Amino acid sequence: MITRDGAYVSLWQDMPVYETQRKPSSTLLYDVVIVGGGITGISTALLLQKSGKNCLVLEAHNIGFGTSGGTTAHLNTLLDNPYTTIIKNFGTDQAKLVVQATREAIHLIKHHVQDYSIDCGFEEASAFLFSQDEKQSKELDDIAKACEEVGLNLQYTSSIPSPIPFEKAIRVEEQAKFHPLKYIYALAKQFEALGGTILQYSRVNNTTEEDDIIEIESESSTFKTKKLIYATHIPPSINLLHLRCSPWRSYAMAVKLKDGKYPDGLLYDMYDPYHYYRTQVVDGERYLIAGGEDHKTGHEANTEKCFRQLESTIRRYFDVSEIAYQWSSQYFEPTDGLPYIGHLPGHSENVYVATGYGGNGMTFSSVAAIVLRDLINTGESIYADLFSPSRIKPIAGFVDFIEHNADVVKQFIGKWFATEELDGVAGLAQGEGKVVKYNGEVIALSKDSDGTLHAVSPVCTHMKCSVAWNLAEQTWDCPCHGARYSADGKVVTGPASRDLEPIELRTLSEKEN
Ligand code: FES
Repeated sequence: MITRDGAYVSLWQDMPVYETQRKPSSTLLYDVVIVGGGITGISTALLLQKSGKNCLVLEAHNIGFGTSGGTTAHLNTLLDNPYTTIIKNFGTDQAKLVVQATREAIHLIKHHVQDYSIDCGFEEASAFLFSQDEKQSKELDDIAKACEEVGLNLQYTSSIPSPIPFEKAIRVEEQAKFHPLKYIYALAKQFEALGGTILQYSRVNNTTEEDDIIEIESESSTFKTKKLIYATHIPPSINLLHLRCSPWRSYAMAVKLKDGKYPDGLLYDMYDPYHYYRTQVVDGERYLIAGGEDHKTGHEANTEKCFRQLESTIRRYFDVSEIAYQWSSQYFEPTDGLPYIGHLPGHSENVYVATGYGGNGMTFSSVAAIVLRDLINTGESIYADLFSPSRIKPIAGFVDFIEHNADVVKQFIGKWFATEELDGVAGLAQGEGKVVKYNGEVIALSKDSDGTLHAVSPVCTHMKCSVAWNLAEQTWDCPCHGARYSADGKVVTGPASRDLEPIELRTLSEKEN
């Protein structure tokens, strides 16, 4: 089974670790190196390799470690950020282009599935957006009007394929669903068959640019490339995009139903945060997948509660016999409603990024693959301006801000604490974590399922915010830009690239010796 960035196991995770076919070369000059082996990295790598480029994908963990292995895999042109918002922020013509781009993305996935005979449960489906009170109905009418304005065909419908009561509903065709990891694995195989290279378990630690050549230091070796793409969800280091994308967590469950009445279609209510439902067959078993209860990363003290609230919502409408899987995952919400795909601000024209997908990562990952392929091959894309990360205006004082924060001071070198004393101060149950003050120091303390205490500095190594314990996933999560760390401080999710500073614990008997 592959690993992911948290303690819970998703519906998709029961896959062997992807077996790569060839070793990378540290002497070769690659045309493109893509950092990140999620759906964006692998899709982009395939399109570029197909177009004649020689590409290397570098992944810090295993393929599908991050959100690609924790998505609920809806493929939409009916987006989370409604067209009312997109029209308001970008105008009607640009919003029409968003419809065109997301349609193109779903077609690309469909063609991949057909051309490569991918057995990933891909199915076209209708999406149903439904209101449950007067205020939501008014909002639904506005969204429906905006959808029509941008050329997204919809119908009002008097029935939805679920027992959830509703006031009004719209139906939009030509959406889809699939098993994300089976799709990604198949694309990775095609990429390698065309001569591409993938290296897993090799975190990128540093990059330097000189004379149009980018040198990439990874955990295993150094590589050279002409172009670099960050497909890491949010780019590492410190960048304007960190101020323009906020990290959110979403919760999901895959459940079995007693009555076998699994809904067709993709269903969305209109609460804030909203709930989403769909059915998927995985290895011959049918599951209802439901999600919601989203909150900003690091802003919810009891993340287990989010699962219980989601469970109670599902049980209100469906006859659940078993909760087979529950998991959470992270996404980045852009400030103006659309992703940032293109040249990475603050770097040369040879460095690219794709981030800020909101809740539509499966669709926007293929949009990114198309845009980045075209930008790298021709310097142009019809979507370049629409998704350009440079639409962000520089912020006065940002340079000072970087200089002030970039150097994280090591404060615990040479210090240690007695396990029994800290245990007494924190009073943690197994699985709990807390930031405590002790003897003038602030310490992030957690207790694992064996009762072992772990202590690390709570200062995020990205830009020095204080991390918060994620009870459900047993991680330290940073509320500022979404970096996440294991209980013992190892980076599991960027933008941080350095681990939390470890704090030494000794037992009292060790102290006396
Ligand atoms: Fe930026 Fe923690 S992720 S400060």
